[in-house]
Amino acid sequence: MTQTLSLPAADAQVPDEPATPASASLGSYDEPAIRTAVPGPRAEAHIAFDEMYTSPSLPRAYAIVPARGEGTVIEDIDGNRFLDFSAGIAVNVTGHCHPAVVEAIRRQAGELLHYSASDFYLPIYAHLAAELERIAPMAGKTRVFLGNSGTEVVEAAMKLSRYATGRQNIIGFLGGFHGRTFGSVSLTASKAKYHAHFSPLLPGIYHVPFGSEGLDELESRVFHRLMPANEFAAIVVEPIQGEGGIVVPDDDFLPRLRRICDEHGILLVADEVQSGMGRTGKMWAIEHWGVEPDMVVTAKGLASGMPIGALIAKEHFMTWGAGAHGSTFGGNPVSCAAALATIDLLEHGGLIENAAERGEQILRTLGPLVGQYPGVVRDVRGIGLLLGIQFDSGATAAAVEHAAFRRGLLVLTAGDDVVRMSPPLVVTEALTAAATRIFAESIEEVAAIR
Ligand SMILES: Cc1ncc(COP(=O)(O)O)c(C=O)c1O
Repeated sequence: MTQTLSLPAADAQVPDEPATPASASLGSYDEPAIRTAVPGPRAEAHIAFDEMYTSPSLPRAYAIVPARGEGTVIEDIDGNRFLDFSAGIAVNVTGHCHPAVVEAIRRQAGELLHYSASDFYLPIYAHLAAELERIAPMAGKTRVFLGNSGTEVVEAAMKLSRYATGRQNIIGFLGGFHGRTFGSVSLTASKAKYHAHFSPLLPGIYHVPFGSEGLDELESRVFHRLMPANEFAAIVVEPIQGEGGIVVPDDDFLPRLRRICDEHGILLVADEVQSGMGRTGKMWAIEHWGVEPDMVVTAKGLASGMPIGALIAKEHFMTWGAGAHGSTFGGNPVSCAAALATIDLLEHGGLIENAAERGEQILRTLGPLVGQYPGVVRDVRGIGLLLGIQFDSGATAAAVEHAAFRRGLLVLTAGDDVVRMSPPLVVTEALTAAATRIFAESIEEVAAIR
């Protein structure tokens, strides 16, 4: 049966004309432009349609129905323009539809759409692997496995850790998020709902608190009373926890973690799926602490929105032989082309420096809100453009998120009571100023009725 997908559903109040001709540029906006109630009539109708067909497991934060994007601006299907400080969950590092990325995708799509690098030799796969070795946060020779998503390369890191060490157990941190497939979700410990009804999960996963107190617990309790250190294959850590609520660890944490791994022959795996690719003002978040991991996984920002994930491992740990691991689609040539263009823009387009500067601007502007709204705004934190504003409760965080949405600013909650800001790294000073003003107004609105 064929079905035509058309917008919107029959009985919706739909404006006759789209609010803006699709050819008009979004790039010149430095304020949101909200023309309808949000969600607008087309969005309402589309949501009703969506909810008839899509998996109810999708969490859907609020009713944004994007039609197109440019830079830091997203236009929804009613022609409303939003400042995108969520970037599709911290993905679009080069902004929406950066011309250099779009051009690289177009060129590659006209040459070769797919040829599995698992069974054959795909040139662009090896070129991207070489580039990833060049920018990796570890010195020396590496090897790279490419997947299609964050979870897939976390799984690869877990499998490789077992393979390389001959050990079974893995340590993760409370508040950590690593994905939703069986291995990675077993390692995830940010919300119990990710585990509910899916047992049994992968055995041999131990969790300790994130930060130096967790390492005390690891050394004094886990290694002592639960499982000897030499039975652990890997410790998997987000250098800055993302989904867990933008948690920056104390300065001793990562260097001490490195020492513990060295002492016991445990592999240190940095999960930089969210924090990598320049987002924190350095290519990798772990570089803020001068620590070298044995493996790093990255995904979200790597190809500016095209699906890809990468596991980069020191060469002497990538011991597995032909057939031990692979993927039909992993390292798709179009995604690889987008990744190469993204790395070029990050390094030569000033995006990483901009992430550091705009992050400082946001911290400087929003930091005083803690004193202005005592008991409502608890903390303003983060590094570069991976930032979190912590509130007194999850309900307040969600109310601020929704108030910002109605005003034309897209942000996303994280952890129990945090609103995350993770805009594209191309965001300008003017757009950042507009976003922080709207965010402060949203807090004012919510604080007044609480
Ligand atoms: C740190 C981290 N690791 C892994 C993942 C999983 O990535 P994906 O959703 O692409 O599977 C995420 C996703 O949010 C993440 O933030």
